[in-house]
Amino acid sequence: MKNTFYITTPIYYVNDKPHIGHAYTTILADVLSRYHRNSGQETFFLTGLDEHGQKVQQAAEKRGVNAQQHCDEMAPRFSELWKQLHISNDDFIRTTEERHKKVVQNILQEVMDKGDIYEAEYEGLYSISEERFITEKESESGEFRDIKKLKEKNYFFKMSKYQQALINHIEKNPNFIQPNHRKNEILGFLRQPLNDLCISRPKSRLNWGIELPFDSNYVTYVWFDALINYITAAGFGSDDNAFKKWWPASYHLIGKDILTTHAVYWPTMLMSAGIELPETIFAHGWWLMGESKMSKSLGNVINPMDLIEDYGVDPVRYYLMREMVLGQDSSFTMESFIQRYNSDLANDFGNLLSRVSTLMKKNYDGKIPEPGKLTNAETIIKSKGESLAKLVKEKIESMRLNEAIEEIMQYVRSVNKYMEDHAPWKLVKEDKISASRVLYTAGEALRISAVLLSPVMPNRTEVLLNALNAKNTGLEWGGLTPGHELKDHEPLFPRVK
Ligand code: MSP
Repeated sequence: MKNTFYITTPIYYVNDKPHIGHAYTTILADVLSRYHRNSGQETFFLTGLDEHGQKVQQAAEKRGVNAQQHCDEMAPRFSELWKQLHISNDDFIRTTEERHKKVVQNILQEVMDKGDIYEAEYEGLYSISEERFITEKESESGEFRDIKKLKEKNYFFKMSKYQQALINHIEKNPNFIQPNHRKNEILGFLRQPLNDLCISRPKSRLNWGIELPFDSNYVTYVWFDALINYITAAGFGSDDNAFKKWWPASYHLIGKDILTTHAVYWPTMLMSAGIELPETIFAHGWWLMGESKMSKSLGNVINPMDLIEDYGVDPVRYYLMREMVLGQDSSFTMESFIQRYNSDLANDFGNLLSRVSTLMKKNYDGKIPEPGKLTNAETIIKSKGESLAKLVKEKIESMRLNEAIEEIMQYVRSVNKYMEDHAPWKLVKEDKISASRVLYTAGEALRISAVLLSPVMPNRTEVLLNALNAKNTGLEWGGLTPGHELKDHEPLFPRVK
């Protein structure tokens, strides 16, 4: 087992500005990266942009600028959003960078030299919108636009040669494609004979791409170029030590719409080039707007920037991670967003901090009070806190993030209940020592919850830990230090309408 953790997002097309779907995958990768980093694992988190191909060329033409200029203008929209969302990526790859072009050309040459690329005249139906040849059956499905008949000389990658090897690999490595229903989908697809993959586009038709090293009249197919980003950034061909350290990737996170390219094209390309396959390709579902798919043409896309402006970064991250069951589709509605915000964040989590810190400030000179001798009630809170860390670890490592978050929130709710039951605001008037014990216990349980939630809400949990003067504390019970001064803080999550 590798001791390092390498996680990737898809690289996004720069034909449009980022929406909540792109933000989702990137936040998910960020949460997992932060989690692994906090657990002491060396972590490499990659995201980036897919800048070649017809879609990007057309978007540039529409704006009346050249393609490179278009990419250069669009790239900051993504990197700015990632900054706003507190994404902690270690690299941001753009496929128009020299470092990437070199690797793509090397791989093309390698695969060619191996005899896995051949030239052929091909006549078939070509979907301009999908930028590839489609089958008769696909053309009848109605899912493809701009179809025309094309007869062209092109280069083909012998994907079919690796069909059986791929099936064997999937069967031997149950985690290779996740969740399981996606693995079965790919195995089903592989029951049919696999076609070879057309990997060239004549420059007469499309010139915005990486030139084939063995024929300057062609550029390579955008997917053959894009997928390779995952090894370029890990140091393939440029830094052998880095590549040894990071590859194979632990996770390629993707949306279900790009499963075939990742679970069929990419592994067969790697097999041909003699490179190890990634450990896990994990496909999540779609964010729907109410019932329908989010799309620009339907005019129902949510702009993450607007949400951040209105509600702050952490609630957006929280909502997306809490609501989606990984692997299934999820529906985004403003009502459920506001509801989650007010009930989980304002009422349960934020309110607990303000209660605890106000009472400590008022009755214990603004300092963390003594934990005292635990009674049964505190022992329960303490041992729940200790087993929570283990439970959360299990849930996160099996990609059940929504459940992990729900476990933490249930704990927070039980601590609120404990506060209600022991009413330290009353108790303090009769028995200051017992009230001190209750407040310490509640504060400590809150601190542990914040540490566990910090990969999801890095900002607000930092404010909270600061307020309790418990920065950089871990998961062990007893992180709050009696006598430490409490710090002033802004309300964590002011209620919204
Ligand atoms: N450029 C390719 C990926 C190449 S990876 C080597 C691409 N780009 S994309 O910009 O169109 O979208 C990429 C990803 O965005 C999707 O796979 C998915 O992860 C995410 N999403 C886009 N819309 C989405 C939703 N409505 N919901 C959730 N995620 C979706 O495909």
